[in-house]
Amino acid sequence: MNARTIRKKFLDYFESKEHQVVRSSSIVPADDPTLYFTNAGMVQFKNVFVGEESRSYSRACTSQKCLRVSGKHNDLENVGRTSRHHTFFEMLGNFSFGDYFKKEAIGFAWEFLTKTMGLDETRFVATVFAGEDGIPGDDEAFDIWHKEMGLPKERVQRLGKADNFWAMGDTGPCGPCSELHYHQSDEVPCNEDKCLGAACECDRWVEVWNLVFMQFNRDDKGAFHPLKAPGVDTGMGLERLAAVLQGQLSTYDTDLLMPIIHRVADLAGKRYGDNGEDDVSLRVV
Ligand code: ALA
Repeated sequence: MNARTIRKKFLDYFESKEHQVVRSSSIVPADDPTLYFTNAGMVQFKNVFVGEESRSYSRACTSQKCLRVSGKHNDLENVGRTSRHHTFFEMLGNFSFGDYFKKEAIGFAWEFLTKTMGLDETRFVATVFAGEDGIPGDDEAFDIWHKEMGLPKERVQRLGKADNFWAMGDTGPCGPCSELHYHQSDEVPCNEDKCLGAACECDRWVEVWNLVFMQFNRDDKGAFHPLKAPGVDTGMGLERLAAVLQGQLSTYDTDLLMPIIHRVADLAGKRYGDNGEDDVSLRVV
């Protein structure tokens, strides 16, 4: 399935679930001194999440152009060297502003991936927040995955704040999250004695979707204030989903990026695949 079709199917799916399809906002956020660049789909909705702005809809979906080159969410050192980190990427997201919460968010994600996209459900592991720093673990999300979606307990992993608590920056809306990781292949090398699965940095597993349960607004002293109307913010890498659906281990080998890499290689008088360091440079460009 090509990336254009994937993007359309995503937006169509959420439109059929009463979500307003909203255009990607500018990559330079309007009026937000805390961010240089839009780094996630929720950026254009930040004030809606904290209750300072209201919209005519309480459910939305986008395919947001993102840039991660600075600040908290920054993969710069990995870009070009791994098979999945980018500076620029497109984030598919669905959002609830005080409308649905965990149960529906998990149900939508599961239905979209396993039914609409037809991916093999046995290749997924879900992660949930284990609890840390006085914030309780997310037993509710665990139970939804296990009891309602039918994932066996061993395929729902509990991880700490570094993996399963999402914040846009040092201040602002934040909350526990639940990620979906897809098993690509055990043939891929892993540096651990025993692969850590969804928690591993290797390419055997790829995180495709992050479901954030926005529950708090963090102030500049680091204190968490519960949001009056908790919501949902999700983000799925279009390039990663395209790689999974196109049977590629690397996002660079998808129809989104391969034509660009070949064009850059032509201009540079190189051939992609001939030399490891040149390949890194081609991917960086
Ligand atoms: N805002 C969340 C993320 O970027 C979905 O992972």
